[in-house]
Amino acid sequence: MQTPQLSRLGALLLASLAATALAAPDTHVSNKASFATDVIYQVVTDRFVDGNAANNPSGAAFSAGCTQLKLYCGGDWQGLINKINDGYFTTMGITALWISQPVENIYAVINYSGTNSTAYHGYWARDFKKPDPRYGTLTDFQNLISAAHAKGIKVIIDFAPNHSSPASQTDASFAENGRLYDNGALLAGYSNDPSGYFHHNGGTSFANLEDGIYRNLFDLADIDHNKAAMDLYFKQAIKAWLDLGIDGIRMDAVKHMPAGWQKNFMAEIYAYKPVFTFGEWFLGENEVDPANHAFANTSGMSLLDFQFGQRVRQVFRNGTKTMLDLDAMLDASATQYKQLADQVTFIDNHDMDRFQVSGASGRKLEQALALTLTSRGVPAIYYGTEQYMAGNGDPNNRAKIGAFNTSNTAFKVIQALAPLRKSNPALAYGTTQERWKNSDIYIYERKFGSAVALVAINRNLRSSASIGGLLTALPNGSFTDKLGGLLNGNSISVSAGAVPTFTLAAGAVAVWEYKPASYTSPLLGHVGPMLGKAGNTVTIDGRGFGATKGTVYFGSTAVTGTNILSWEDSQIKVKVPAATPGNYAIKVANAGGAQSATYGDFQLLSGNQVSMRFVVNNASTALGENVYLTGSAYELSNWSSSNPVGACFNQIMHSYPSWYCDVSVPASTTLQFKFIKKNGGAVTWEGGSNHTVTTPASGAGKVIVNWQP
Ligand code: NOJ
Ligand code: NOJ
Ligand code: CA
Ligand code: CA
Repeated sequence: MQTPQLSRLGALLLASLAATALAAPDTHVSNKASFATDVIYQVVTDRFVDGNAANNPSGAAFSAGCTQLKLYCGGDWQGLINKINDGYFTTMGITALWISQPVENIYAVINYSGTNSTAYHGYWARDFKKPDPRYGTLTDFQNLISAAHAKGIKVIIDFAPNHSSPASQTDASFAENGRLYDNGALLAGYSNDPSGYFHHNGGTSFANLEDGIYRNLFDLADIDHNKAAMDLYFKQAIKAWLDLGIDGIRMDAVKHMPAGWQKNFMAEIYAYKPVFTFGEWFLGENEVDPANHAFANTSGMSLLDFQFGQRVRQVFRNGTKTMLDLDAMLDASATQYKQLADQVTFIDNHDMDRFQVSGASGRKLEQALALTLTSRGVPAIYYGTEQYMAGNGDPNNRAKIGAFNTSNTAFKVIQALAPLRKSNPALAYGTTQERWKNSDIYIYERKFGSAVALVAINRNLRSSASIGGLLTALPNGSFTDKLGGLLNGNSISVSAGAVPTFTLAAGAVAVWEYKPASYTSPLLGHVGPMLGKAGNTVTIDGRGFGATKGTVYFGSTAVTGTNILSWEDSQIKVKVPAATPGNYAIKVANAGGAQSATYGDFQLLSGNQVSMRFVVNNASTALGENVYLTGSAYELSNWSSSNPVGACFNQIMHSYPSWYCDVSVPASTTLQFKFIKKNGGAVTWEGGSNHTVTTPASGAGKVIVNWQP
């Protein structure tokens, strides 16, 4: 059967399928429609279900019974298919699976101070263009995608282009020396790297952003994405997986790769097949990092919401923060993240202690799940959390799932709340407003137009509380708890925006909601992707768009006619218009002319992108002064000195008084640029005429100039 939409490499990747009929890739879920209506389930593939014992590794790499948690335990794609088909996920309300990085990982068993370790987690890649045989064959992967799509479940892959696998700086025989392959052909090893595909700048230092990007993360052989061959390799690899029908990407370690390279990578993905992409930028407890916000707002991808996850754990699991602190985090994040509904929320994952503390009340976990499922963002549930799995630290937080109980309370909480994210747009897209709080009680309201969800949580497991003076946007009437009393919630009545005093039980969560039958004027819930070039497809979700085509505006540029690809009451797809590159607020006018509020900022790129390293030598600076870059394209900030590119780095790839910035810039374009020195508001421009560079058509480039005094 022909699959004309496959790229050459997708076809290569599929070569082993020669005789097998391929299902046509399912495009209906594969777009950048909002995931805010979804609930993601994160699996460590090896730790889920062993559906095919024949693909299990033998010998020292395998732990029968999964007693040695750093070894392979046999979980695979067939196991996931089995659980999809037996309805476990759909019964729970799960609509997206996030699976371990599917690419071929190393085979070595590594001895780390006496403990044998393997690549069971998927983060030790050797060939990004091949499937990992311990998870299954390409046919198994295809079957996984089709089985998931048949049940309306999207598939998100983990993807970790920051590095290949562990390598020693001094011992080439350690592990597999980070060797990287291109569909079986060796590209380089860490100790045999003639083309410089890896960084050789020593191991981890978290001293600053630059160290984190250009040094190895622990002992992981770090890729130099400024090498054209590496840029092309990863673009080819991700397209091959996109061709296989994946619906989303969880990008590993985004704090540890150049932001400029990642933006050019996202531009390539969104021009090829726009899928929801979220990155992992780890934040510790109480860590608030403006660089994290800037990345989420400009890179084209969203992030795992560690601020949310860490705070929820502090409040509900550890008891080290109060509901007032929860409210403060929710409030602050609403301005920190421009696309709040796109950030992925969670209460635990494979890099944290599991939420459930052995011996502690399960109610804390049930409350944290209820909060996450009714909050802004895209909820992701870590496998086994619904089964109250406990386990602190890696690898105890990654044990094999042992039970698939569908009648426990945590499972039922997810089952009750997950569907509300689709049925009530207040949960998927709404604002968050605090309505009543003290250190133990938090009552918050989500609101989208006249759709409302009011959620009350009492984290005190011993004392009930009397709630007086509660105001709400719910209309007059009585409202039953959408959890059906599962967490001891009560019903309420509402009269003229007020709720008569009631008792919120100890340890209770109650969810009350209202949604109108229809919407008369357009309401924008979500737009994505928010970065791209003219001609790309953008999906707009919301309500009240009407049945008849109206107009979509990018700033003042109207998109009409055939540039509107589809128009439904709750979803529109449009082609990005050709307009001056820049930031645009998007709005929708229905056929009758009624307009929505604006949704910003769409980054309209100049065209195809490449990653360029701009280097300036001899740029000495005074204390407090940094070097930035500006120039003749939107991507170079259009000669802005108030919002230039940078600050550039000056320690690792080039060192002071040299400075370098990795930037996503238009391909095949002659750019003019200058570096500037800035100290707060004080700006020193380079003298002389502008520098010029013509960017390559693809891959990555580099230009080096001398500071012109
Ligand atoms: C973050 C992942 O979540 C973690 O588990 C992994 O070890 C590192 N990145 C390196 O890939
Ligand atoms: C303003 C700067 O002052 C100058 O140095 C630069 O060449 C131009 N912008 C480019 O138009
Ligand atoms: Ca297996
Ligand atoms: Ca790196």
